[in-house]
Amino acid sequence: MEPVKAGLLGLGTVGGGTVNVLRRNAEEIERRAGRGIRITHAAARDLDKPRICDTTGITLTTDPQDVVSNPDIQIVIELIGGDGLAKDLVMQAIEQGKHVVTANKALIAKHGNEIFAAAQKKGVMVAFEAAVAGGIPIIKAIREGLAGNQIQWLAGIINGTGNFILTEMRDKGREFEDVLKEAQELGYAEADPTFDVEGIDAAHKLTILSSIAFGIPLQFEATYTEGISNITREDVAYAEELGYRIKHLGLTRRTDKGVELRVHPTLIPERRLIANVDGVMNAVLVMGDAVGPTLYYGAGAGDEPTASAVVADLVDVARVLTSDPENRVPHLAFQPDAISDLPI
Ligand code: HSE
Repeated sequence: MEPVKAGLLGLGTVGGGTVNVLRRNAEEIERRAGRGIRITHAAARDLDKPRICDTTGITLTTDPQDVVSNPDIQIVIELIGGDGLAKDLVMQAIEQGKHVVTANKALIAKHGNEIFAAAQKKGVMVAFEAAVAGGIPIIKAIREGLAGNQIQWLAGIINGTGNFILTEMRDKGREFEDVLKEAQELGYAEADPTFDVEGIDAAHKLTILSSIAFGIPLQFEATYTEGISNITREDVAYAEELGYRIKHLGLTRRTDKGVELRVHPTLIPERRLIANVDGVMNAVLVMGDAVGPTLYYGAGAGDEPTASAVVADLVDVARVLTSDPENRVPHLAFQPDAISDLPI
């Protein structure tokens, strides 16, 4: 069977990681997807920039339309970030009947309701596992693994950059700004790093998790958001003296009044598992009524951890495309089900 053809929008850290993972694990991916997955085109702003991947065999272009309007491309992988150009291109891709895989949390959190409605109308899939907690398959875990549960609450460290900063401040007494600079160099931070340190990135991710967990529409504006930029080395050291760790958490739970969403620094006793999640690692604790507490842990940012989630979505989409159209699993399974009447 012919490989599924995909086009990349954005060839930075995650785009490069995606090319590398697809190439290195091609055999296993083909076995799992039922057919190969090939990136035929990639659009990037600057074609002369050094890349972390080998682009041999991929047609490079500066014009995203070469990807979005290419009739041979079945899946558009959006890794540009932001919710301006990325939104226009994703909407165009959907309009052209293409499936979309994205790592863009801002896009899904702010415009997901509109995007999913358009995708549903066109009968295409929009998959976004890589948008939350990097390599941790948390969307699939909640939607599929915990499908039999009423989710009561979830709490997590869902920004790798922020956790890396807090960990380095605690362990090595480093300055906030110095660690942030390193996080940027390592490709962990957002294009605008205030999104990381002011909690906006975590709020985007929490909005998505809350929608999946509670079956509510995406409502980014409903999230209380507080960052870590005011936290000093002294605060971190003082917490340590008292037997606590400062962690930047996203929390969402059902209350009598509806669903609550908040992102803020939190003091956690050091004996708790989540207090020991350090560096760029993320962890999400999900409480289901049947299963009880469950904990998911893994790298929250970086080229290959995030690519791991992108490729998993590509495999999901390829599987559906490979299946018999008469007996297809409804692809709406990829979308948050706005079924609940819980107020937000
Ligand atoms: N800037 C994000 C983080 C990247 O540090 O978690 C992964 O979403």
